[in-house]
Formats: sequence, C-alpha cells, structure tokens
Amino acid sequence: MELWMGGVLLVCMAAFLALRWDGQRRPRPMAVWMESVFLDNPFRRAVFPPSLVTRAWMPPPGARLGELGAGTGMVTAVLARAVGPTGHVWAIDRQRGAVARARRRMAGWPGCTVAVADARHLPWPDGQLDGVVTVAMLGEVPEPDRLTVLAECRRVLKPGGRVVLGEYGPDPHYLTPGALASLVNQAGFQVVHQHRGWWQHALVAVAEGSKGP
Ligand SMILES: C[S@@+](CC[C@H](N)C(=O)[O-])C[C@H]1O[C@@H](n2cnc3c(N)ncnc32)[C@H](O)[C@@H]1O
Repeated sequence: MELWMGGVLLVCMAAFLALRWDGQRRPRPMAVWMESVFLDNPFRRAVFPPSLVTRAWMPPPGARLGELGAGTGMVTAVLARAVGPTGHVWAIDRQRGAVARARRRMAGWPGCTVAVADARHLPWPDGQLDGVVTVAMLGEVPEPDRLTVLAECRRVLKPGGRVVLGEYGPDPHYLTPGALASLVNQAGFQVVHQHRGWWQHALVAVAEGSKGP
C-alpha cells in the first residue's frame, strides 16, 4: 500500500473513532443532513439494509405498527410494504426536517402517517399496536430516558405485541446486543429473538406476562 493511502485510512479511522466517542458521550439526534448523506444512500441500502427489522420480525399483513425515530423514512417504507393496504404505520421523529423527508417518501401510501413527536411521550393510546419498531434511535436518547421510551412502547402495545429494536455498527450511537437486551429486560420485556447480521443486529421482545397470539 502506498504511504498516502495508509495516511488516508488512518485519518478515516481516527475520524470514525472520534465520532463514536463523542456519540457515546453525548447522545443526541443525528443531524438531518447527516442522515440524508450517510444513511439514505445505496451503500447503506446494500450493506445495512432497512429490511433488517423485517428479517428479525415480519409483521403480519394488516398489522398496526408504530415506528420511533423514522428519520428520512427508509425503514418506514419497509414496514408499510410489510403490513400492506389493510395495515397502518404511524411513524414519528422529533426533528421536523426528518419528518418532512419521510412524508415526501411516503406520499401516496395511505396506510402511513408521519408526525413530529418525541419517543419519550408517544402520541398514541394504550394497548393499540401490534408492534413498535425503532432502528438506530435508542442510542440517541440520553441514557436515563431510554427506559422511559421502552415503558412508552409497553404502554401502547397490545397484549403480545412486539417491540423490535435494530442497530447498525457504524452509527456513533450504536448499542451492542448485550446493552439492548439488558435495557429491554429492565423495562419488563422478554427477548424472544435476536437477529445478528454483519455489524448490525435486531432484537425482538414481548412484554413479560402479556399473552401473545
Ligand atoms: C440515526 S437516525 C435513524 C433513522 C432511521 N431509523 C433509519 O434507520 O434510517 C435516528 C433518528 O431518531 C430520531 N430521534 C432521536 N431521538 C428521538 C426521540 N427522543 N424521539 C423521536 N425521534 C428521535 C432522530 O431525529 C433521527 O432522525
């Protein structure tokens, strides 16, 4: 390898490690322009596909789902396709810019509603949803509030409803499979499935004591 190539590689690795260190130290929403550049692109679609969540848990056609931290709506589109015309996906994000992009993507899908809301106070009634899905969001929530988000998920799920949490390795706010499992257990969920891919993973859990279908 040429010396300059080694130099470029080292700079990229240092930048990645600095971003990861900062992301873990100061959890916060990823800027919308960064989502558009780093997440909403063909590389992400090919290497870290948004279908990660439906590989972990395929919602039945007609299901009613909530999605937290929808970003530009890549995962939303996968979920809307899975539930079909008889189902519905309610997607939220706390950033207006992300919601505007997701709405543009999902225009023409009657079974999808995208709104500005905070995952710590879900705008949905108790016990109505078959599943709540979130990808690469929980790590952006300050640590003390992560259990609040999961308690909200529990509140809005029907008995036996699933919570599905996905993570991508390169995300600065990445949470390991162990960290996710420990959080959902503390929130009163039982892990029923863990899907592991190359540098990405998703966990499926059901509220303890709630009878599943
Ligand atoms: C890394 S992006 C992932 C977007 C999308 N899930 C995907 O995989 O393409 C995380 C998103 O979560 C949103 N987010 C972070 N904290 C949130 C909160 N407390 N409530 C709602 N959305 C939040 C951010 O605004 C951002 O759009």
